[in-house]
Amino acid sequence: MQPAPGAAHAPSVATLRMPGAWLGMTAFALDVGLEQSAGAWAYRHLTAVRSVPPARAGEPRGLASPRGTKRHRERDISRAEPSTRWDPALYARFERERAQPFFDLVARLPDGPVWSAADLGCGAGELTRTLADRWPDAAIVGVDSSEEMLAKAAALPTHPRIRFVHGDLRAWRPEAPVDRIVSNAALQWVGDHEALLARLVDCLAAGGALAVQMPDNDDEPTHRIAAALWREPRFAAQLGEARAERRVQPAAWYGERLLALGCEIDVWRTTYLHRMRDAADVVEWVKGTLLRPVISRLAGAELDAFLSAYTERVRDAYPAGPHGVWFPFPRLFLVARRVA
Ligand SMILES: C[S@@+](CC[C@H](N)C(=O)[O-])C[C@H]1O[C@@H](n2cnc3c(N)ncnc32)[C@H](O)[C@@H]1O
Repeated sequence: MQPAPGAAHAPSVATLRMPGAWLGMTAFALDVGLEQSAGAWAYRHLTAVRSVPPARAGEPRGLASPRGTKRHRERDISRAEPSTRWDPALYARFERERAQPFFDLVARLPDGPVWSAADLGCGAGELTRTLADRWPDAAIVGVDSSEEMLAKAAALPTHPRIRFVHGDLRAWRPEAPVDRIVSNAALQWVGDHEALLARLVDCLAAGGALAVQMPDNDDEPTHRIAAALWREPRFAAQLGEARAERRVQPAAWYGERLLALGCEIDVWRTTYLHRMRDAADVVEWVKGTLLRPVISRLAGAELDAFLSAYTERVRDAYPAGPHGVWFPFPRLFLVARRVA
């Protein structure tokens, strides 16, 4: 019998009890990632793509000008990154599997009144809408840098308490501190997580909480194969220099920094095991995310050559069994409540 494409199985979780926190422990080996760290991409100012509902107490208002107080004088973490074209339809192909970690993440957020919330790297906004159900009093802003994703969000019926803005999450700052910040599968696209975490915690109201989920798969065959191909001379000229630094850090690294920022934390790492029909489905999955920079930079015969070499190697790395292809997908979760 043909397996359901991308059927998800119960994840395995490794956690270690820490004072006031659960710290997920994870192995860490230095490796290289795929994305360029510098490029010609310049920070673009935010443009609202939805009208803003009437203001409420503490309502986030998208990007405000950087404030001049000492507390807000952070390092500039909104520097150049190459732009990546997203394909919302392709991304949505494994919607159920991609949504599950979001629900696993927000389930661990503390209860309590929520008047304002932000979804950073909100994509096409379907999951942002579920936050409005969870927090019936909250004004919610979704921020994303992809015009393609936001165009899809704008095509959905408007929600009276949700608005979407176009912009870089690294530069986002609410006018008033917010009660919840959620970022699902987005922060792995940006660097300098130390400065970013400090900035995001600083955007929280007292007792507010931050929830972040990131794929943690730099060491997985999908990523190693892509990184190796990126460096091959036949592609490197078009793709540019491969990013040398790792963006997603070990779970304990985040735990240490969030505790130092005065948060109560819940940090864990899980491997979801997806059952795919075949290796071609694994390639389809990563074409929706990991390979976006490749698809944005290569075209025609070069892109075909990259994808065909990639597919061949993925087929070897993820052999088919009697029930399809098993596709392990590690993810890292951070929930931090600001108490100081
Ligand atoms: C894998 S998608 C996740 C979308 C959504 N959070 C979800 O879970 O379905 C990653 C999203 O992060 C956005 N993104 C990446 N870098 C960003 C940045 N610097 N600022 C704002 N959005 C960013 C992308 O445009 C994309 O929509």
